[in-house]
Amino acid sequence: MLKEFQISLVIILMFAGGFLYELTLKRSCFFCIPAFKSLVKLEDVLSHGRSIVFLETSDRLEPPPLVSCAVESASRIYRDRPVVFFLKGLNGNLTHLPSNSTNAAFSLLSGIRNVFLFPLDMRTLFQETPLFSWYSQINPRTQKNWLYVSSDASRLAIIWKFGGIYMDTDVISIRPIPAENFLAGQSSRLSSNGVFGFVRHHPFLWQCMENFVERYNSAIWGHQGPALVTRVLRRWCNLTDFQDVVDLRCRNLSFLHPRRFYPISYPRWRRYYEVWAQQPAFNDSYALHLWNYMNKGKKEVAPGSNTLVENLYRKHCPGTYENVIRGREERDEGRGPVGTKNGS
Ligand SMILES: *[C@@H]1O[C@H](CO)[C@@H](O)[C@H](O)[C@H]1NC(C)=O
Ligand SMILES: *[C@@H]1O[C@H](CO)[C@@H](O)[C@H](O)[C@H]1NC(C)=O
Ligand SMILES: *[C@@H]1O[C@H](CO)[C@@H](O)[C@H](O)[C@H]1NC(C)=O
Ligand SMILES: *[C@@H]1O[C@H](CO)[C@@H](O)[C@H](O)[C@H]1NC(C)=O
Ligand SMILES: *[C@@H]1O[C@H](CO)[C@@H](O)[C@H](O)[C@H]1NC(C)=O
Repeated sequence: MLKEFQISLVIILMFAGGFLYELTLKRSCFFCIPAFKSLVKLEDVLSHGRSIVFLETSDRLEPPPLVSCAVESASRIYRDRPVVFFLKGLNGNLTHLPSNSTNAAFSLLSGIRNVFLFPLDMRTLFQETPLFSWYSQINPRTQKNWLYVSSDASRLAIIWKFGGIYMDTDVISIRPIPAENFLAGQSSRLSSNGVFGFVRHHPFLWQCMENFVERYNSAIWGHQGPALVTRVLRRWCNLTDFQDVVDLRCRNLSFLHPRRFYPISYPRWRRYYEVWAQQPAFNDSYALHLWNYMNKGKKEVAPGSNTLVENLYRKHCPGTYENVIRGREERDEGRGPVGTKNGS
């Protein structure tokens, strides 16, 4: 069933292997995957249902610092679980591999013991789900908001098929999420789809995929995303407003308090890029959503700025933080663009 995944992975690894010898001698080595990982199959990694899953639905193969931080921080918080980063740009099309760009983040992530990079092949992924007929009928090129819509669909299918936790690439993990089947409240009666976790084949996600197809309208932003999981959640549970910092439970699902992932709400997203008199402890939170959609990649981590985000990087993704500092030094020394500037 997942043969295409495997084949593309093998091709990529063969391709990478040839360059490895040459590139390991240089500082930015592309695809420095430890030898044992080249033997790993996608199903073997995902089959335990305990993976933390990230997605990149653009063809970009150079994770910007925030993406790198999200994946690295998850690998540190969930040391005994696989962290799987699917990139559409690895999808067997070798013409898309960057030839000469700076791959500091890419080589950092591929070098982490429990991080696995795999191609995102949607056709294979959607097989045997309600999304397959939808995907077969549409032309991605003509769909509005395709990067978001395809990401919304992919995350439902991956977690439905394998189980685990999905996270957006602008979420910094700070402590383990104790719930198994959960959705993240963005406010009372409103769920996000930026973080969620389910056991394999949970009927909630099947209903989400059915509703995705029934109500599909890519022109409305978020209609297949937060609005979709909220629609299905309202059918599943009788939602009440959150009181204090207490999660809601209904049937076998936890609806986690907004403080768990959104201690700073989206109108205040700039606070992450400001200097705080006292660093907040975020004691009620499991991960921090940095609202990169609001930021549009404009604000970055500035080393030495003492902003909240700098301190978060230093503590929760030190490898990424080092890359940011090194990239800054290279830029200052006029060694050209560093290629890690864009947001997602
Ligand atoms: C591979 O990339 C090239 C260049 O962007 C594109 O023309 C081609 O359709 C791609 N092939 C596949 C199988 O995606
Ligand atoms: C690749 O990088 C080297 C050194 O960083 C540079 O001299 C060369 O021009 C680059 N080649 C391309 C095709 O960008
Ligand atoms: C609870 O979750 C399981 C999956 O582990 C599912 O099969 C079952 O239907 C769920 N129960 C209810 C009451 O929704
Ligand atoms: C929701 O409320 C309705 C009416 O009060 C009740 O009949 C139903 O069983 C409740 N559903 C759940 C999942 O608690
Ligand atoms: C957060 O937790 C730490 C360690 O448990 C504790 O020392 C600190 O006082 C807490 N901070 C707040 C604001 O509750």
